[in-house]
Amino acid sequence: MKIGIIGTGYIGLTEGLCFASLGQSVICYDIIKEKIDKLKKGIPTLYEENIDFILKENLEKKAITFTDDLKVVLSGSEIVFLCVNTPENPKTGECDLSQIMDSTESISKMSEILGNKFFILAIRSTVPVGTNKQIKEHMLKINPKLNFLICSNPEFSRQGSAIYDFMNPDRVIIGVDNEKSKERMGLVYKPLKDKGFQIFFTNIETAEMIKYASNTFLNIKIGFINEICDICEMTGANVNDIAKAMGMDKRISPFFMKPGPGIGGSCFPKDSIALAKMGNKLGLDLQIINASVNSNIARKNSLANRVINYSKNKLEGKTISLLGLTFKANTDDTRYSPSLNLVEELAKKNIKVHAYDPHGTDKFKYMVNPKTLDFIRFYDNAYLAIKDTELLIIITEWDEFKHLNYKKIYDMIHQKIIVDFRKILDEQEMESIGFKYYYIGKKI
Ligand code: UGA
Repeated sequence: MKIGIIGTGYIGLTEGLCFASLGQSVICYDIIKEKIDKLKKGIPTLYEENIDFILKENLEKKAITFTDDLKVVLSGSEIVFLCVNTPENPKTGECDLSQIMDSTESISKMSEILGNKFFILAIRSTVPVGTNKQIKEHMLKINPKLNFLICSNPEFSRQGSAIYDFMNPDRVIIGVDNEKSKERMGLVYKPLKDKGFQIFFTNIETAEMIKYASNTFLNIKIGFINEICDICEMTGANVNDIAKAMGMDKRISPFFMKPGPGIGGSCFPKDSIALAKMGNKLGLDLQIINASVNSNIARKNSLANRVINYSKNKLEGKTISLLGLTFKANTDDTRYSPSLNLVEELAKKNIKVHAYDPHGTDKFKYMVNPKTLDFIRFYDNAYLAIKDTELLIIITEWDEFKHLNYKKIYDMIHQKIIVDFRKILDEQEMESIGFKYYYIGKKI
């Protein structure tokens, strides 16, 4: 089928490539010309495992093309997937629909110029319940002759494994309000259905809500194990054994039960806040959801104090080293990253940071409070960042950090302390080198 993708960010690009790999003919559109120019040359605009290879392969097969001309994507597509960002409105906490409204306005106008040829618009971005209806009304108001059907098809891909997740979905959710959309959307996902993956059809509002309910439930699950972890640190109970044993109960499942420095990324934090706001608007007091938002913020803000306590208050005016800036490994994304809270809290206490991340430095510089930047120096090598600092913090679980030469690092740090917020190192090995090794969940 002929597929158009509007918005070539994390979701649009990875999923455009996946559809192309599944045999569909794909045109990806983005408003940013520089991005499109790079992609046309086979240069990926984001970090995702194997993306360079998959991009080149599909370009060579001519299974995918890139354009910054809306006319090209609309005239050449039977189904248009809308994959633009729906960030948090920083003033209200609600989902900011401006990119959705701007792009659907342009689609509506361009469709009129092209003679109102029929297409299906699949909303892939995460949007509050009722948004598809709002988009439909908005588009028809601009162009009453618009010949289209709208459906909700939320994505469930994790950054860092977006390509794997798309190709191996636990389920594909499609919200429709008519048989024609159901039939066409069924055809797009037929290659996945033929491989045995579940395609779940429901109505549009339900599909919209499945996304928020899923992300917020996982947010609550991780927040819960993080709080259990705090109790373990005070009592000597082993949080990893607890998570493992709880996970043996099929009703709970072992996934998304790893304690850590708090939840980051562009999805869980903002979607949980937006769901709480949706509740507010409906006059509902959603206590569990609100609590999960606050619990996560408190956890991220507590990281600096934990480090200061571990070092017995010997850090003021000194420099520490930090490995990891992205919100998790295998992505260059730093949105809502716990490292942002950590460095900002450290800066408030006059503690400087030497930081290294394999892929996240540029995006981190852009995200961090400009005043805090004065307290950070960035390095393009872990050893250079660690050299001559008080202690070492690991906050992202990059593989590279597991394989550093910690005997060499021992001589580089003054207080001989490692604070490992992801527990990626071996406790016995670190202690045998001579480190005071603190990991998340260890009895303080
Ligand atoms: C999340 C969802 O997992 C995807 O299904 C969804 O499509 C996506 O949001 C989205 O809405 O677009 P993502 O934000 O890429 O994906 O990252 P996750 O791998 O889910 O991790 C989110 C955060 O939870 C990270 O900070 C991670 O470190 C943390 N986490 C995850 C834990 O602390 N413990 C865990 O056990 C799992």
